[in-house]
Amino acid sequence: MHVLIVGNGGREHALAWKIAQSPRVERVYVAPGNAGTAQLAVNVNLSPMDFTGLIDFARKNHIGLTVVGPEAPLAAGIVDAFQAAKLRIFGPSKAAAQLEGSKVFCKNLLRSADVPTADYHVFNDPIEAMGFVNERYGEEDELAPLVVKADGLAAGKGVIVCQRRDEVLEAIDRIAFHREFGDAGDQIVIEERLEGPEASVLAITDGRTILTLPAAQDHKPAYDLDRGPNTGGMGAYSPTPVVDDQRMRWIEEHVLVPTVHAMKRGRTPFRGVLYAGLMLTRQGPRVLEYNVRFGDPECQPILMRLQGDLVDVLEATVDGRLDEIDGLHWDPRPAVCVVMASEGYPGDYDKGHPIRGLDQAAELPDVKVFHAGTRMDNGQVVTDGGRVLGVTAMGDSIAQAKLQAYTAVKCIRWSGAWCRKDIADKAIG
Ligand code: AMP
Ligand code: GLY
Repeated sequence: MHVLIVGNGGREHALAWKIAQSPRVERVYVAPGNAGTAQLAVNVNLSPMDFTGLIDFARKNHIGLTVVGPEAPLAAGIVDAFQAAKLRIFGPSKAAAQLEGSKVFCKNLLRSADVPTADYHVFNDPIEAMGFVNERYGEEDELAPLVVKADGLAAGKGVIVCQRRDEVLEAIDRIAFHREFGDAGDQIVIEERLEGPEASVLAITDGRTILTLPAAQDHKPAYDLDRGPNTGGMGAYSPTPVVDDQRMRWIEEHVLVPTVHAMKRGRTPFRGVLYAGLMLTRQGPRVLEYNVRFGDPECQPILMRLQGDLVDVLEATVDGRLDEIDGLHWDPRPAVCVVMASEGYPGDYDKGHPIRGLDQAAELPDVKVFHAGTRMDNGQVVTDGGRVLGVTAMGDSIAQAKLQAYTAVKCIRWSGAWCRKDIADKAIG
């Protein structure tokens, strides 16, 4: 079979790496891919948003399965477009992808399904939102532990966590009047600010059967000890001790199952990866958000541990027969992924720096260097994005996996390369 993967990040390199291992897969294409995917697949110079081009390519190259990495094409309806063209594709429909594409849709669904989440209010009118805040949090009480969210997709940036009333008002101003996130700010969600460790629980579902993957923890802030601006994710590890078996069963029962049922009842059945971003509060786990795809970088450590054929699982999901899959099997060893980034990220950065030491890193046991923002330039791998590499390693313990990942990181260098030094420390104590 020929498989097409849509996207160009570390997640897509990990997907291509895993899918290429399937004995049933003859050829893997990645659109547009990066220098890492080029080593095990054929890169296709098409944008993930060019549905016509992708469908045309899939037809001409006898693609038996397309797998979508990022959220933007899912929210724009790539799955519906492929299905209308009678092509098999893994991912949720446009209607189901609203779970990530619209925070209002997500919160309303959570409320109707009785899934635990932060209390919230939705506003179409920013003046009303400001009035609400001023009324609830009067002059003398400056504290207002609230989170202000732009409704639509904002590349992970449309969430502003606040502590004081003036911060909340400024957040509303930025979203609604300065339109920092464009149309995504047409509606605003204001919700209570929760506290606790965060965890990512991903599941594959065909709309009826749910296969839960081991929990992971992302590291969103740029710098050590969770300081600095938010990023797409500076590292991840899996499994995480903050979600033990008992808690995982609770999350399945109280979060995943009611969500999948509510999606079905609402005539937007969910097929694909359902990714719950959770906060583990003292009152129990609460859903912060849903994503409708593999997390990046969570995908890298998770897929490194997955045993068996991912393609069987993806196909069974597309065909609505996930109940035929006899569970998922995992390497018991934990995996840790450290993201190496360009100088300046998540702000402005430049590109094109030659990357050295990739071969030495690849020689280390239990290490896989997934590429994210890279491209080939005259036979040389150069930087081409903010998050450049996801250096991933397995070990007998989380501490050993971390050590091995950082041993590999030390082999790799380019001008301005940096990474967080504390990935997975939350699990090590
Ligand atoms: P989201 O994109 O909704 O996951 O939000 C991004 C980040 O904002 C999360 O990973 C949390 O760190 C933080 N966040 C979102 N909602 C809340 C909340 N209700 N309380 C506290 N922090 C939150
Ligand atoms: N790692 C967070 C995300 O993929 O959205």
